[in-house]
Amino acid sequence: MGQNVTGPAIETNDLTRKFDELTAVDSVNLTVKQGELFGLLGPNGAGKTTLIGMLSTMLRPTSGSARIWGHDIIADSTKVRQSIGVVFQGSTLDDKLTGRENLDLHGRLYGMSKDLRRQKIQEVLELVELADRADEIVKTYSGGMMRRLEIARGLMHRPHVLFLDEPTLGLDPQTRNHIWEYIKRLNQEESITMVLTTHYMEEADSLCERIGIIDHGSIVALGTPAELKSKLGGDIITLTTATEEKAKDVVGSCKDLKLVKDISRSGLTIRITAMEGERAIPEILNATAAAKLEVESVSLRKPTLDDVFLYHTGRAIRESSVDETDRIRYKMQTHRRR
Ligand SMILES: Nc1ncnc2c1ncn2[C@@H]1O[C@H](COP(=O)(O)OP(=O)(O)OP(=O)(O)O)[C@@H](O)[C@H]1O
Ligand SMILES: [Mg+2]
Repeated sequence: MGQNVTGPAIETNDLTRKFDELTAVDSVNLTVKQGELFGLLGPNGAGKTTLIGMLSTMLRPTSGSARIWGHDIIADSTKVRQSIGVVFQGSTLDDKLTGRENLDLHGRLYGMSKDLRRQKIQEVLELVELADRADEIVKTYSGGMMRRLEIARGLMHRPHVLFLDEPTLGLDPQTRNHIWEYIKRLNQEESITMVLTTHYMEEADSLCERIGIIDHGSIVALGTPAELKSKLGGDIITLTTATEEKAKDVVGSCKDLKLVKDISRSGLTIRITAMEGERAIPEILNATAAAKLEVESVSLRKPTLDDVFLYHTGRAIRESSVDETDRIRYKMQTHRRR
């Protein structure tokens, strides 16, 4: 897998895709370096799959352009396809075939010779530790095994760039962790440039070197997870009160404090961004005590990517307990493709 081009692995220039009135991807300018593990993080409908679709030549841009490994996605689409692997959102495996047969089918589609197929299949099966289950029918695989087989398939023709669209959607947390480890290892040991999409905050945070947060088709923030969080400039303090009236008064008595950078309220909960959380808490509690306001609870935490998203868009990236919805979506997508 020679790094045989100079310049970035991916470069987009005002890349745009519209569906009638809707602009699913809106003038995206993005550069991904060779060897990078890049994450596209965004809520449902943000445009992640549409962006991956264009970069993998599956979907034609409405305007703008992009180069993958030096090749133009429109003018040199064949070369682009030879340079990339794609792991789609939702399963595209044939579950009536064995793992090995699924991989063989893919190799044939790519015009690989019988000998080469045999060699590559063994190689990728070992990479994802499925060699001992390769001759069983996919229907008997767990969700995590299926995902690993799909990753293996994406690696069959030794791509320079691997696109993974929601590689862990619908999997339980433990299996998700397991898949992250594979992704990280493949990125490091095989030096494959990886672009993955996710709406799992923790995944992006722990896995990706750099993250682009995408919302309504636009990249709203870009940087390493640490940079994005530190740009918020502070810690997050959450206070709760017994009544909404009190909560409003707490906002009033704290908003002008020196260490308070930002304050907002939602129902009984007050959310404060403060420069030095540990020092801000006593200052805040003194102010509320002076105003004879009772605070029910106080908590302090470091900012998460969710806070970054909230800061840039004014809303949370995802509601809580979406996991079950994800599982249902995953099943629906898997079903639809059959
Ligand atoms: N083929 C299509 N025709 C019409 N609208 C589409 C089509 N594909 C996507 N869209 C719309 O474009 C927007 C972006 O969709 P996209 O699938 O790219 O989002 P996403 O970020 O991948 O979401 P998810 O997290 O649910 O996978 C959505 O509003 C979606 O409804
Ligand atoms: Mg998607």
